Amino acid sequence: MWWLLPCVLGFIRLYLDGVKVLLYQLFNRSFILPDLPKQNGKVAIVTGGARGMGYEISRHLATLDMHVVIAGNEEHEGLAAVKKIREELNQGKAGVMLVPERRTDDGFELHFGLNYLGHFLLTNLLLDVLKKSGKPGKCSRIVIMSSATHYGGRLTLDDLQGRMCYSAHGAYAQSKLALLLFSYHLQDQLWVRGDPVTVNAVDPGMVDTALYDNLSSPAQLAKKPFAKLLFRTPAEGASTAIYTAAASELEGIGGLYLYNGRKTESSALSYDQRLQTKLWKESCALVGLQ
Ligand SMILES: NC(=O)c1ccc[n+]([C@@H]2O[C@H](COP(=O)([O-])OP(=O)(O)OC[C@H]3O[C@@H](n4cnc5c(N)ncnc54)[C@H](OP(=O)(O)O)[C@@H]3O)[C@@H](O)[C@H]2O)c1
Repeated sequence: MWWLLPCVLGFIRLYLDGVKVLLYQLFNRSFILPDLPKQNGKVAIVTGGARGMGYEISRHLATLDMHVVIAGNEEHEGLAAVKKIREELNQGKAGVMLVPERRTDDGFELHFGLNYLGHFLLTNLLLDVLKKSGKPGKCSRIVIMSSATHYGGRLTLDDLQGRMCYSAHGAYAQSKLALLLFSYHLQDQLWVRGDPVTVNAVDPGMVDTALYDNLSSPAQLAKKPFAKLLFRTPAEGASTAIYTAAASELEGIGGLYLYNGRKTESSALSYDQRLQTKLWKESCALVGLQ
C-alpha cells in the first residue's frame, strides 16, 4: 500500500492549494488591466490561444496591434477564434488538467509532455529568433502559464512520466512546477549571455474554463456553485498574462512569478538551481536537444 502514498499526497496537496486560492479570490478583487501601450505589429505566439484564457490573451494582444499567431490542437477551433477576433476587432496557453493516464504521440505522460515539455521544446526552437528580435530596451518576452498547484508539486526525476505510480493530480502539479524551474533557469542563462529576452511566469488564479472538464462527476457538481461565486472569468484570468506580455514597466524584467498583477514568491523548490539544471538536462535528452 505504501506505493499509493505519493498519489494520495498529490491529491491532497492539489486540493489544499485550490482552497487557498479560492479563499484569496473570496477576499480580493481580480487584477484590473491598466491601459497598455500599442505593440505596433510585434509578433505574439499564444499556445492554446483558441479558447479559455488563451483566447482572451490572443484577443487582447490583437487589440494592442500585435500580430497574433494561435498555436493549438484543433485547426477548426483556431480558425474560428481568428474569425471571431477579426469580427470583434472590426468595430481583442496550452494545457490540460487531471486527465486519466494518457501518453502523447511521442510517448510522454500527457501533463508532462503537453503542459511542460512541448513548451520547453517550442521555446528552445524559437530562442534564436527571440534573441535576434529583441534589443536592449525592447526585449523579446516569454510568458509561461504556471499555476498555484505548483506549490504542492514534486518533481520525481527518476519517474517523470509517472510510470511507477500515476496520479493525475500529482502529474498536473509536477508539470506546473517544471514550467517554473524551466523559466528561472532559462532566464539565468539568458542574463549570463546578456541576451535581450525576458522570461516570466504567471499564475492566473482559479478560472472558470474547460480545463475542469476532466474532474470526476461528483467533483464537477461540487465545483459548480464555487465556480459561479469564486472563480475568475477567462478575461480576468488572462489579465496578468496580458500585462506581463505588454506592460512598459516590465521592460527588461524577468525571472518573476506574477499573480493577480503582482510579483509574488513561488515555492522554495522552484528556486532550487540544482533541480533546475537537472530538469533542463533531462528535458534536453528527452526532446533530443543538444
Ligand atoms: N483554469 C484555471 O483555473 C487555471 C489555473 C491555473 C493555470 N491554468 C493554466 O492556464 C492554461 C490555459 O488553460 P484554460 O484554463 O484556459 O483551459 P482551456 O480553456 O481548457 O484551454 C486549454 C488550451 O490548451 C490547448 N490544448 C489542449 N490540448 C492540446 C494539445 N494536445 N496540443 C495543443 N494545445 C492543446 C487547447 O487548445 P485546443 O482547443 O486547440 O485543443 C486550449 O486552447 C493552462 O496551461 C492551464 O494549466 C488554468
